[in-house]
Amino acid sequence: MMRKENQSKKLFEEALGLFPGGVNSPVRAFKSVGGTPVFMKEGDGCKVTDEDGNTYIDFCCSWGPLIHGHNRSEVTQAIVNTASKGASFGTPTSEENVLGKLILDNHRYIDKIRFVSSGTEATMSALRLARGYTGRDKIIKFDGCYHGHSDGLLVKAGSGLATFGTSSSAGVPQAYAGETIVLPLNDEAALKAAFENYKDEIAAVIIEPIPANNGLLLQDKVFLNALRSICTDAGTLLIFDEVISGFRVGFEGAAGYYDIDPDIITFGKIIGGGMPVGAYGAKAQIMASVSPDGDVYQAGTLSGNPVAMAAGAAQLKICLEDGFYDDMATKTMRFVDGINAFCEARGYDFKMFSVGSVFWLSFSDKSHVRKASEIQGEGMNKYNILFHYLLNNGVYMGPSGYEVGFVSSAHTEADLELAKEKICQGLEKAFTA
Ligand SMILES: Cc1ncc(COP(=O)(O)O)c(C=O)c1O
Repeated sequence: MMRKENQSKKLFEEALGLFPGGVNSPVRAFKSVGGTPVFMKEGDGCKVTDEDGNTYIDFCCSWGPLIHGHNRSEVTQAIVNTASKGASFGTPTSEENVLGKLILDNHRYIDKIRFVSSGTEATMSALRLARGYTGRDKIIKFDGCYHGHSDGLLVKAGSGLATFGTSSSAGVPQAYAGETIVLPLNDEAALKAAFENYKDEIAAVIIEPIPANNGLLLQDKVFLNALRSICTDAGTLLIFDEVISGFRVGFEGAAGYYDIDPDIITFGKIIGGGMPVGAYGAKAQIMASVSPDGDVYQAGTLSGNPVAMAAGAAQLKICLEDGFYDDMATKTMRFVDGINAFCEARGYDFKMFSVGSVFWLSFSDKSHVRKASEIQGEGMNKYNILFHYLLNNGVYMGPSGYEVGFVSSAHTEADLELAKEKICQGLEKAFTA
């Protein structure tokens, strides 16, 4: 099949004059894989169609929010019906109560929730809450976790023996970065050492309990349990950033999956049914510090927007149906196992990791990859070959080998079988190039 791309090229040319790099979020620019970004026009179920009329089985799924795929009728209807009554009021609305109650009634790890408009806003607000609640300033984050683009979180490990981070973006004052300690994932010794050095100063540890922004770096449960107890001993709040894992690996996200009780949880993506929503939740005692009850200020003109709340509620209701998450995990596992078996038979240094309905294509001979430093960067060239092969053969993956893929409830066994075939063909190309 020869993929047409005249329209995408034309639109990208125009966009280059309008937006930095032609995009409104950097990964969309195809910098990592090369070529012209594909301009999508519509989506239905697990398929997306671009401006040139090419159709793809979609594993990007808007980077995770679309757990039921595109244009799921219940979600679309909720958006249309609610919007037809007015897009925003700046007052409380019943839609906020509906989504808030739906979540809190079915999530054992939080008592109260505050809706915001993005994952970045959720993590930024959660950190402020932790700092306000504990009266401490420093935070710990992990190399390989992404928590959005607020100043204190765009920080990478300092060089040499420096414990404190340095900013990973221009424009972040060193004073902010200096409050963030960056540690390797899955490393209890490093964690203990940081707590020994700064025991009474650390307000919070923030972690993606299922790190899914730099490969899928599945953690040992032993490490996550140790993290929980070290935080408890030190009076430090443990923040699970579940912007990806929340409502994805189960309704109770990674907290439920591992049965670990964090102090604060952040959400985004799935919670808004494709509309811009984020949230943070915690035990009532901690949430009592949030304004107007408490003195940690946080606000938003469009927070709890009724259209977004209705979309989120429609989407999450479906997730609560019996067996929903088991079915998602089973079909994803079958898909992943099939590809792994093919690669094993061929002797390729490749493994597909997955949890629930999230997967990652790892070009490495390792049976576990738990730390960012364990990712073999050379494999990214192979990913790029695979990516373009798939693009030309009707499968859309995220345009970077560090990104995970998402299976939705709209992906049928037949879609997954077809995608598996194409991925195996693409891998053959990548490994024989
Ligand atoms: C774990 C995690 N936290 C926070 C964010 C930031 O969310 P947003 O892009 O909605 O600001 C992301 C985005 O990918 C994420 O994956």
